[in-house]
Parts: sequence; C-alpha cells; structure tokens
Amino acid sequence: MQTILVTGGTGFIGSHTCVELIQAGYDVVILDNLSNSKESCVDRIKEITGVGVKFYKADLLDLESTKRIFDENKIDSVIHFAGLKAVGESVEKPLEYYENNIGGTINLIKAMRDANCKSIVFSSSATVYGVNNKVPYTEEMTTSATNPYGYTKVMIEQILNDMTVSDKDWSVVALRYFNPIGAHESGLIGENPNGIPNNLVPYIAQVALGKLEHLRVFGDDYETPDGTGVRDYIHVTDLAKGHLAALEYAAENKGFQPINLGTGNGSSVMEVVKAYEKACGKNIPVVVTPRRAGDIAESYAETSLAKKLLGWEAKLDISKMCEDSWNFTMKNPEGM
Ligand code: NAD
Ligand code: UD1
Repeated sequence: MQTILVTGGTGFIGSHTCVELIQAGYDVVILDNLSNSKESCVDRIKEITGVGVKFYKADLLDLESTKRIFDENKIDSVIHFAGLKAVGESVEKPLEYYENNIGGTINLIKAMRDANCKSIVFSSSATVYGVNNKVPYTEEMTTSATNPYGYTKVMIEQILNDMTVSDKDWSVVALRYFNPIGAHESGLIGENPNGIPNNLVPYIAQVALGKLEHLRVFGDDYETPDGTGVRDYIHVTDLAKGHLAALEYAAENKGFQPINLGTGNGSSVMEVVKAYEKACGKNIPVVVTPRRAGDIAESYAETSLAKKLLGWEAKLDISKMCEDSWNFTMKNPEGM
C-alpha cells in the first residue's frame, strides 16, 4: 500500500482528496498548520471513510518538522495543497504570500529530496493563464499573473520544472484547477471561508442562509451571452478524483507536466444563481454593480490533455455542485 503525504489536507480540496485516496486504498498522512482549517476535519474524514489518518499539525516553513514527517513515515508521493489562496489579501500582504507559498514549497522539496521521495502533484491554478490568453486555455500557453497569489503559482511551477531538469528522477504534475465548488455528498466536509466570502458560490450560500442580504453581480456588460462573467466551475469531488489519476501518472512518468482540471464548460454568474435557487428552493436577490477590478469576461479549460494523459474527466454538473454546496451549508451554518 502506498503512503501519500497530503500537505494542506484539512483544507477544502485537500480534505476531499484525502477521502478519495483512502477509499482507493492509499495510506494518508496529513501535514497542515491549521491556518485556514480545523483539526476536526480529520474526524470528519474518518466519519466518511471509516479509516483514520495520521495528522501532523506542522508548518512547511519549519523545515525540521517537515523533515521529521519524512523520517517517521515512508512517503511514496506528495500531494501539495498547502498555501494561502486569497487574491485580494495577497495584494495587501505580498511578502506573507511569497514567503508562505514559495518558502513552504522550497522546504517541502528539500525534505522530499533528502528522503529520496521525488514524486509530487501540485495545486496550481487557472490563474496562471493571466489576462492575455484566449479561451479555452491550453497547457502550452504562456503563463503570467496579475497579483502576488498568481505569481506564487507561476513561480512554484517554474521551481518544480527546474527540479525535473536538474534531476531526471523527479515526477511533477502541476494541476491547474479552474473554479472548484460544491462539497462532499455527505455534507460532512466542504468549504469554510473566513468572514465574508469573496468567491461566488460561498457568497451565494450565505445569501441563501439569510446571513447576507443580496449577491452583488460584478458587471453585466461583459461580452458573454448574458453579460455576466463566465467561469468553468468544477465539483470538488471530481477535482479530488483527478488527483488520484495524477498520482498514477506521476508514478509512471518523469518530468514536469502541467494539466488543466476543469469541465470545459463555462457558466455565467446568472446561470449559477439560477442553479443555486433551484437547489435551495429560495430566491437569491441580486444587485448589479460595476465590474470587480482584475476580473476577466471568460475562463474555461481545454480538457483534452487530462483525458489523454490521465484518463480523467469531470462528471458532475452545475446542479449537483449547487445541491451539494447547499446541503453542506445547511448542515454547517457556522462552518465546520
Ligand atoms: P484551503 O485554504 O482550504 O486549504 C489550504 C490548507 O493549507 C489549509 O488547511 C491551510 O491551513 C494549509 N496551509 C497553508 N499554509 C500552510 C503552511 N505554511 N504549512 C502547512 N499548512 C499550510 O484551500 P483550498 O481551496 O483547499 O486550496 C488548496 C490549494 O489549491 C491551494 O494551494 C490553492 O491555492 C489551490 N487552488 C485553490 C483554488 C480554489 O478555488 N479553492 C483554485 C485554484 C487553486
Ligand atoms: C478567483 C480568483 C482566482 C482564483 C479563483 C479560485 C480573483 C480576482 N480571482 O477567481 O485567482 O484562482 O478565485 O477559485 O479573485 N462574482 C460576482 N459576485 C461575487 C463574487 C463573484 O459577481 O460576489 C463573479 C466574478 O465577477 C466572476 C465569478 O463570479 O465572474 C466567479 O468569481 P470567483 O468565485 O471570485 O472566482 P474567480 O474570480 O474566477
């Protein structure tokens, strides 16, 4: 049985991936500093799977603690989710983002190298396609960023790529996620945004709960079918399954490989609102406001590479994403 170290494993995408890993028969070790998640998530993972995971409350910025995990466990491969992810906050606190995301990743790579573990699946983002590429985004397009968060993803991809050049034994898969939403079907794990959410679906969920009055629709004058922004929303469970396929790919292939994880379909803000209204049986009041700075009209993936290399494709549609988000929100109105 293979043992996988999951950094950021108590977070939103990490926790769903741990569930899928356990259900597929992997042994899971979680490293998380709990800066954006709670230890109770470990119990929730056990409740869903019936299997316990080994949990280390540790910070990737602490190299010694990170190395100790590799000394105490025979880690076959790493899935690296740990990082800070709020775009706006990264503009306010660039140093914190560069230090945590890049510094943390460098420590992780050092610990892996010393333990001779050279297989890693990294959480990249569609944000690396920047603002100048045309949809659908394909993996060979040039990468760029418009904010410190995005730059950390561009730079970490570069660092990991450089590792594969310096040592041919490294296998790196950089998964470029589009817009992950939804929650586990059980309603036991899901997204836990701090304070007022910035992202669309967590915000709508709070409106549906009655905690926020209305959704602000950031612009209805984009060149899209209904004028509102279009994104490639992907169910977090589909995304989690993509990581298992990426692990298998990394076990067979050396080198650096970026791969999009999206559905290939775009939904507009108003389409998501309609789907959520149907899922929760309530009216979601909206107010159209000017565009949000930094937003683009459309973002969606070309998905053929994931199909070809991983044999993976997203299966769940926007209705299911909204139903599972609402189920989780109702069961956890104060978060997890
Ligand atoms: P999350 O905040 O729920 O999970 C990240 C986890 O990493 C948290 O539990 C946090 O406590 C932990 N962490 C942060 N810094 C750490 C450190 N130095 N040491 C140890 N643990 C640390 O976020 P998520 O939505 O699950 O995202 C996971 C990854 O996917 C992130 O790297 C994120 O940038 C990337 N990503 C997310 C999205 C999205 O929309 N959620 C989109 C694209 C990419
Ligand atoms: C955001 C990040 C992106 C990150 C992604 C992860 C920004 C500028 N970009 O992408 O870097 O990789 O999250 O999921 O923060 N919207 C509203 N009202 C709201 C919230 C959002 O109308 O209250 C609209 C936005 O204008 C956009 C769509 O909903 O058209 C999705 O927004 P959001 O969920 O924030 O994701 P992205 O902006 O795509």
